[in-house]
Amino acid sequence: MEHEITRKDMLKWLDEKDPEKLSGLYREAYACKLRYAGPKVYFRGLIEISNVCAKNCYYCGIRRDNRDLSRFSMTEEEILEATKTVYDLGYGSIVLQSGECQDDAYTAFIEQTIRKIKSRTSQKIGITLSLGEQTAETYERWFRAGAHRYLLRIETSDPSLYEKLHPGDHSFEVRRDCLRALRRTGYQVGTGVMIGLPFQTHENLVSDLLFFQEEDVDMIGMGPYLPHAGTPLSWPDGNYDPADHFRLGLVMISLARLLLRDVNIAAATALQTLDATGREKGIAAGANIIMPNSTPTAYRKLYQLYDNKPCREENARQCRSCLEKRICGAGDEVGYGEWGDSPHFLKRHGDLRGAFPKNRQP
Ligand code: 5AD
Ligand code: SF4
Ligand code: FES
Repeated sequence: MEHEITRKDMLKWLDEKDPEKLSGLYREAYACKLRYAGPKVYFRGLIEISNVCAKNCYYCGIRRDNRDLSRFSMTEEEILEATKTVYDLGYGSIVLQSGECQDDAYTAFIEQTIRKIKSRTSQKIGITLSLGEQTAETYERWFRAGAHRYLLRIETSDPSLYEKLHPGDHSFEVRRDCLRALRRTGYQVGTGVMIGLPFQTHENLVSDLLFFQEEDVDMIGMGPYLPHAGTPLSWPDGNYDPADHFRLGLVMISLARLLLRDVNIAAATALQTLDATGREKGIAAGANIIMPNSTPTAYRKLYQLYDNKPCREENARQCRSCLEKRICGAGDEVGYGEWGDSPHFLKRHGDLRGAFPKNRQP
């Protein structure tokens, strides 16, 4: 029986600077991924369907008060077209992401679009949603329509740090309760945090990992915080070291893998802003999911959550061949045409794949 990694071990690793020791950690996490999540890397085509957002998070480039960008919302036809591209590229799943809106027209639009995506792909494409906080009823409607995974980053598990990063009407407790509602609805639930935030300590990061464990989530998506010039938040002058923040990003992936073992873990795009081969390194440190940008090129510049987001000029096909080269070049295999569900979820549900309603079968 392998021993469980402790808070003390995790703190020690977050402080570790010796490249050889760190390589040892990444290798151990990679071996753990092979054992508990299998050898494949799964691609999820990320379609950023709208940059309209009712919220005002201090760190985010598409926050409501940023008047420096035009707002777009893809039409149903555009989303179906982008989905078809993803499907034809051989990805097993899409992720629909947008700013947060809760009005009836929006929630109904999403529900109908999910149904159409499922029917146009003969129920074959897996749908992950990343559409923010919603009521339990909305989560339920979207689930029934055919979505089966949901990503909602907690951003930080420390309520007082959460308060520093958000206006007063954004609530940590509401967000955490959304994660619980998603789980009760039956979704595979993903969460995550930003790494290297102003005011964030290594103790905070360890607590984040333990939060993932306590909430028993199925998927993790975390990445470095990167500033956006049009937002109120930035790093205190002069004490930002990109290489060190990148190191923290990789260490967090490895620690999440060693602690949680059979969850899906994404290598975030933001890693690639800090290091040209950041996403491959994320895979080598224990991640098993990549979300290639599959947003129509014309909209990409309008969905800059942080400055210097990669792939602004490319299209979905270019991102596929780019990432395939990167992943296969590093010796990993891509699980094309498969959902690549979280083994943690399947285990919790006694591998119910065969028992899912028809529209949920891969
Ligand atoms: N740097 C890194 N990640 C960011 N996000 C938003 N703004 C930034 C930023 N400046 C992340 C948040 C959100 C996800 C969609 O994008 O974690 O949950
Ligand atoms: Fe809106 Fe999400 Fe950005 Fe916050 S992080 S402003 S909710 S898009
Ligand atoms: Fe988009 Fe490399 S992944 S260009």
